[in-house]
Amino acid sequence: MWSKSLLELIGHTPLVQLNAVTRGVSATVLAKVEYFNPGHSVKDRIALKMVEEAERAGLLRPGGTIVEATSGNTGMGLALVAAIKGYRCVFTVPDKQSREKIDALRALGAEVIVTPTNVAPEDPRSYYSVAKRLAQEIPGAFYPNQYDNLNNRQAHYETTGPEIWEQTEGRITHFVAGMGTTGTICGIAQYLKERNPAIQVIGIDTYGSLFQKLHETGQIDPREIYPYLTEGIGEDIVPGNLDLSLIDKIIKVTDRNGALMARKLARYEGLFVGWSSGSAVWGALEVARELSPKDIVVVLLPDHGIRYLNKIYNDTWMRSQGFLEATSELVINDILRSKNRKTPGLATVSPQDPLMRAVELMQRYEISQLPVIEEGRIYGLLTESRLIEVLMDDPLAKDQLVQKYMIEPPAIVLPTTPVDIVSKMLTREMPAVLVQLDHGEWDIVTRSDILHSLVEARM
Ligand SMILES: Cc1ncc(COP(=O)(O)O)c(C=O)c1O
Repeated sequence: MWSKSLLELIGHTPLVQLNAVTRGVSATVLAKVEYFNPGHSVKDRIALKMVEEAERAGLLRPGGTIVEATSGNTGMGLALVAAIKGYRCVFTVPDKQSREKIDALRALGAEVIVTPTNVAPEDPRSYYSVAKRLAQEIPGAFYPNQYDNLNNRQAHYETTGPEIWEQTEGRITHFVAGMGTTGTICGIAQYLKERNPAIQVIGIDTYGSLFQKLHETGQIDPREIYPYLTEGIGEDIVPGNLDLSLIDKIIKVTDRNGALMARKLARYEGLFVGWSSGSAVWGALEVARELSPKDIVVVLLPDHGIRYLNKIYNDTWMRSQGFLEATSELVINDILRSKNRKTPGLATVSPQDPLMRAVELMQRYEISQLPVIEEGRIYGLLTESRLIEVLMDDPLAKDQLVQKYMIEPPAIVLPTTPVDIVSKMLTREMPAVLVQLDHGEWDIVTRSDILHSLVEARM
């Protein structure tokens, strides 16, 4: 049995239990994985609905143009629907969006206009203003306006809400989703609360956005609106789709916590999701930690991780933002670079050296272990604790040969080996590993180097 069109494959996404990031949580946490949509995001649903309703209302006719302000995913959905139905697309996208998202829109035939992020919404250069102007200027243009078009939340009321209700057999107790245009959360909340008013709905907001304050006080505080990095959630305007009465609580999640949780979802659950999915799960776990085994939390994951490869899935970028956890993403090369060396190169002894030479080297360079190397071959390791043991027993042993007292050679790792793997290899008895460099050269990483890097990385 085949599908007559890709459009039939929009929606009906799976609901998957989270098993790893939920350690210590008694409630069941289920993820509604929206990257299974053909355009790899939740926005396919609203794109189809807004276009179909515009066709029905006569706002979009054959040969027409769809003009939209989009953070990328709605554009993707609209471009896909437009490609199949034969419309032209023109999108405005803020310049903080991932390069990949913009290229993907162009791949589907859309024309993309990149606008500055850090201007007020009413500024004529903002992505809202540019889209509005183009919609007026281009003949036959339809401006879906996902912020104020109520078919946005209607799409979720008609499809995502019922899917979640059926997939949990009506047992859902809490629903968590990010808030951008708020179509997702409000449409789903409306459906679920109609079925069971006791269901709690929790919105995820960013620092720098107005939702939480508006929910708690009814006020918008311009001092709390500032640029942030997470894509797709948080707003500096009040979208027409927002109905705050449907939302019980709003949690703000930092850019960093959202990014780190997205990476954990990829690594430990196999869910390669976007940044705002990490934010949503971070908030869902805050909620779930307070709940009992009877509770079922559903969290919606809006899009796929491939669009964020140059950002949250890029270690260099993550480090440049100060987002990376100390050890988990560090590799041995990072430690070598940050080492505070007193030696000109790697200090070593040969098997035939007397122990006294080792003592002298350790004192001169303030080091606690010496690899025993001769002509590029590793014979063993001499440690400070071993030397103390031997010389306490017999002070005259200082003239004995190193080979008599050295311990076995340390393990060999590469500059690219992750630090968290190496830290598990190091013990009091074997406090160092050797690092194999290019051109037959060696370096050493010790327990104290790792300790030093932990303190550095946290500063
Ligand atoms: C990646 C991502 N996450 C979350 C959202 C928020 O969904 P909604 O706009 O329905 O509130 C969006 C919407 O743009 C998005 O693109």
